Formats: sequence, structure tokens, C-alpha cells
Amino acid sequence: MPYVLPLTHPVLETVGVTVRLSGLTILDDVSIGVPRGSVTGLIGPNGAGKTTVFNVMTGFLAPDEGMVRYEGRRLKHVRTHRLTSMGIARTLQGVGLFPALTVEENVMLGGSSHVRSGIVADALAMPWADAGQRRLRERAREVMEEFGVLEDAQRRPSELPYPVQKRVALARALVSDPKVILLDEPAGGIDSGDMADLARIISSWVPQRTVLLVEHHMELVMNVCDLIWVLDAGKVIAGGSPELVRNDPAVIAAYLGEEDAH
Ligand SMILES: Nc1ncnc2c1ncn2[C@@H]1O[C@H](COP(=O)(O)OP(=O)(O)OP(=O)(O)O)[C@@H](O)[C@H]1O
Ligand SMILES: [Mg+2]
Repeated sequence: MPYVLPLTHPVLETVGVTVRLSGLTILDDVSIGVPRGSVTGLIGPNGAGKTTVFNVMTGFLAPDEGMVRYEGRRLKHVRTHRLTSMGIARTLQGVGLFPALTVEENVMLGGSSHVRSGIVADALAMPWADAGQRRLRERAREVMEEFGVLEDAQRRPSELPYPVQKRVALARALVSDPKVILLDEPAGGIDSGDMADLARIISSWVPQRTVLLVEHHMELVMNVCDLIWVLDAGKVIAGGSPELVRNDPAVIAAYLGEEDAH
């Protein structure tokens, strides 16, 4: 039987999602919910399927079985560029910034519903001067200030230290003022000082926003999450409070030998 934990009114959920790629079952009957106004964690060893869950939830990948529900409605064939207008934003594993664009342009892209996945040329050709773009630029400056990257607005991502690039990626996700934010390993490659800042930032978003956090740093996950789901080899093996999950024998067994788990 799959692991199922009934939740009242999750804002975003997968219902019995199975994904098969290249003949392998990557996700197996995964039902996880993200309660409104919560920070929900999604953890599991490398290759467990966490990023694949994000890809399904954001419509990058259609499940072979099951479905995604957002605000109680089935999400079908979500176009990536529509996510922004639906109130969903995500950060990509790593940094996922466009190297040829400035920090400011990268941040502005997060607020543009015109941007289709991968078509940077369209974005570059956008008339930045019209009223909508001016508002977007103002909003971009606001979030760049909030994330301490305003002074780097005209730099390219590669000129900046990695932790600063990660903050630019967060600013890009926040520029559209999303209701739901999916973060894929936001603490990857950053030190403990930056991690404490990140914990404060994430905690400050709720309950106005809802966060789904994929992260290997257990301390961060245990500190900021209200609810944690655990995936192992494509299956949900546990779900519950940080306390419950931390002491779950199946979770401990799944993490044995995991170098990245802290
Ligand atoms: N396009 C694909 N074709 C075949 N297998 C894939 C494909 N994409 C991902 N996989 C496999 O699916 C599994 C889950 O990958 P996924 O990236 O979702 O894991 P993850 O939990 O995010 O891992 P990590 O912690 O390393 O980021 C892995 O075994 C991966 O090799
Ligand atoms: Mg991943």
C-alpha cells in the first residue's frame, strides 16, 4: 500500500502519481500534499525522485498515472509560462540563471508571463520600456534589495559568488509575488551563515505564502518545516511532523550511508 496521510485542503498535491522514464519507475503512486500557509519539506536520498515531483507539480512532466491538484482543481497540461500567473514559482536545482543576462534581467524574467520555457530570445526582444515592464522593473528592484543583490543588478551571474547567485534565483522566484513557492535545494553550496539567513527568509514567507522545500540539509529542513514528506526510490516512505520523521526507522534506514545527509 502507498503511504498516504490525509490532509485538509492542501493547496497543491499529487494524487497517486506514477512516472515512468526509460522503462524505469521513477515515481510510484506518490500522494503528497502541501497544506496552505505551511513550509512543507520533501526529502530523500539522491535519486529518490524529489526533482521529478517538482517537475510533475509544475507541469514540466505529465505523470503516467495520477494527477496534480492545485487549489482543489486538477492541473492539466500546465504550460510553464502560465505558472507565474497561477501564483506558482519555483527555483531550479543549482542556480538555473541565464548566463548571458544581467542579474536584473534574470530577476525580471521571473515576473514575466510572456516567457516560455527556454526561449530566451523572446525575452531579450521584449520591450522593457512599456508600463508593465516599468512596474516589473520596479518590483524587481524591490526584491533585489530584499535579497541584498541590488548592487549587483548589472552584473552577470558568473561574476558573482555562488551564494549570491542563489539569492538572485530566490529573488527571481519572488518577483511575481507567488502564492506557492517550490524550492529545489536552495541551501546547496552555501555556508551555515547564509543558511541561517535562508531559514529566516523562508519562515518569513508563511503563512501568506506556501512553501515546498526540497533540501538535503537536515538542520534547515527540521528547523523550518511544519510537515515533511520522505521519498525513497520513488515511493513515499513517511510523512508527518519533523519530530515524527526524524525518529522514523524507515527514514533512518533510507538515509544510512547517505553522505549528503547532515
Ligand atoms: N529523463 C530521465 N530518464 C530516465 N531516468 C531519469 C530521468 N530523469 C531522472 N531520472 C532518474 O530518476 C530518478 C529520480 O531523479 P530525481 O532527479 O527526481 O531525484 P532527486 O531526488 O531530485 O535526486 P537529487 O537529490 O540527486 O537531486 C533518478 O534515478 C534519475 O536518474
Ligand atoms: Mg533533485
